[in-house]
Amino acid sequence: MGTILVGKSRPLRGEVGVDGSKNAVLPLLAATLLTEEVCEIADVPELNDVDVMCKLLRSFGAVVEEDKRAKSIKVIAKTLTANEAPCALVKQMRASILAMGPLLARTGRAKAPLPGGCAIGKRPIDLHLKGFRALGADIESMEDERSYGYVEAVAAKLAGGEIYLDTRSVGATENIVMAAALSEGNTIIENAAQEPEIVDLANFLNKMGAKIKGAGTDVIKIEGVKRLHGANHAVIPDRIEAATFMLAAAITKGDVTVTNMLSDHVKPVIAKLRECGVNVEDTERGTRVRVTGEFLSATNIKTLPYPGFPTDIQPQFMTFLSTVSGPSSVVETVFENRFMHVKELNRMNAGITVTEGRKAIIPGGRVLRGNQVKATDLRAGAALLLAGLAAERETEISDIYHIDRGYSNIVEKFSSLGANIKRSP
Ligand code: UD1
Repeated sequence: MGTILVGKSRPLRGEVGVDGSKNAVLPLLAATLLTEEVCEIADVPELNDVDVMCKLLRSFGAVVEEDKRAKSIKVIAKTLTANEAPCALVKQMRASILAMGPLLARTGRAKAPLPGGCAIGKRPIDLHLKGFRALGADIESMEDERSYGYVEAVAAKLAGGEIYLDTRSVGATENIVMAAALSEGNTIIENAAQEPEIVDLANFLNKMGAKIKGAGTDVIKIEGVKRLHGANHAVIPDRIEAATFMLAAAITKGDVTVTNMLSDHVKPVIAKLRECGVNVEDTERGTRVRVTGEFLSATNIKTLPYPGFPTDIQPQFMTFLSTVSGPSSVVETVFENRFMHVKELNRMNAGITVTEGRKAIIPGGRVLRGNQVKATDLRAGAALLLAGLAAERETEISDIYHIDRGYSNIVEKFSSLGANIKRSP
C-alpha cells in the first residue's frame, strides 16, 4: 500500500471546496432502505466509506447506481433479500451498524456482527440496542470480544417508545430516528445528539414522508408512519473537512478561502482559531482564513458533543497548537482512546505529554521535524498531514487508507493550494 509524502510547504494560498459530509451521507444511504421507492442522493463525496456503504446496501438486495462524475447515488431497495450485515463490511466501517434500524423497521429483523471502524475507544452500541428495545424489539447479543460477537434485533412490528440516551450518541440517535420513523406509535428521544448530520437525516426522512420534529435539539419527537416513499436529497458540506482546511491555512500561516462550507457548523473551531490570533471571516466566496502576524498564541480545548468543540477535529487542532507560542491543553471527553496521534506527533518533535488519560499538554513553539509516521485512524492521519506541511524535512505517512476513508482527493486539494504533497505508490 502507498504512502503520502509531505514536505515543508510555503503559506497555502487560494480557494478550496469542501465535499459532501461523510458522516451525513452514511446515515442518508442507510435510510434509503426504509422505502421500496427510488431515492437519489446528491453531493456525495468520493470516499472509501461510501463504497463500503453501497456494498452493504447491495448485500441486502438493494440496487445501487453510483454516478461518481455527477456525485450522485440512486438507491432502489424494492425487495430486500437479506437482513444480516456481512462481517467483512462491518469490520471495515463501524457506521455499517446504521443499517440496523432501517432493516429492523422494514423487515422485522436485523443482525450484525459487532462493528469495526476507527480504533479510538471501546465504542459500544448499547444505546442503539436500548433504543430498539424501547421500540419493542427483542435483542439477542453475544458480546464476547475474544470470539465472533453479533447482535440481532427482532420485532414483528415496531411500536413507539420513550428513550433517554445516557450519552449523546450520534449513531444511536440516528439509528433510533430511522427505526421510529417507520414504527406504529409515537417516539420521544431525550438527551438526543444534536449534530448537523442528524438534522440532515431528519430533513431527508421528512421528505420521504416521516414526521420528525426537534432534530438539532436534545428532544426529538417522531410520529411513526406506515409507509415512506422515495425522495431526492443533497448532502450537507463536510464540517470536519472544512475545519481541516482552515487549520492547514493556519499552520502554514497562509491565506485560504474555504468554499461550500457552513461556518455555523464549525463555530467552536472558528472561535478557538480567533483566540490563537488567526483571522477568520465569512466572505461572498466562502470562509477566509489567514494569518497576518508572525506570532500565534496558545489556547485550551475540550471536546464535547455538538455544539461543543468536535472530537473529530481535536487531533488536527492539537497539531496546530504544537506550533504556536506557549503551552496549551487538550481534554478529550467524547472518546477514551483518542490520543493515538500523540505518539506519532512526538516522533516529529511535538513534545506532547498525556496526563490522566484524557488530557494532553502541548508545550508549543516546537519546530516539527519530518519523520516516517503512521496514520492510526482517520483524523489522526489528517493531523499528521498538517504536521508535515509545517515540519522541516519530509514526512512519510503510512496506513493512509484511514485518510482515504474520510477525505476525497485530499492530495489534489492540498496541492492546488500550493502544498508540497504527493502520493508514493
Ligand atoms: C459519530 C461520527 C464520528 C464522531 C462521533 C462523535 C459518524 C459515521 N461517525 O460516531 O466521526 O467522532 O460521532 O462525534 O457519524 N456510546 C456509548 N454507547 C453507544 C454508542 C455510543 O456509550 O451505544 C459512546 C461512545 O463510546 C462515545 C460516545 O458515546 O464515547 C459518542 O459516540 P457516538 O456519538 O455514538 O459516535 P458514533 O456515532 O460512532
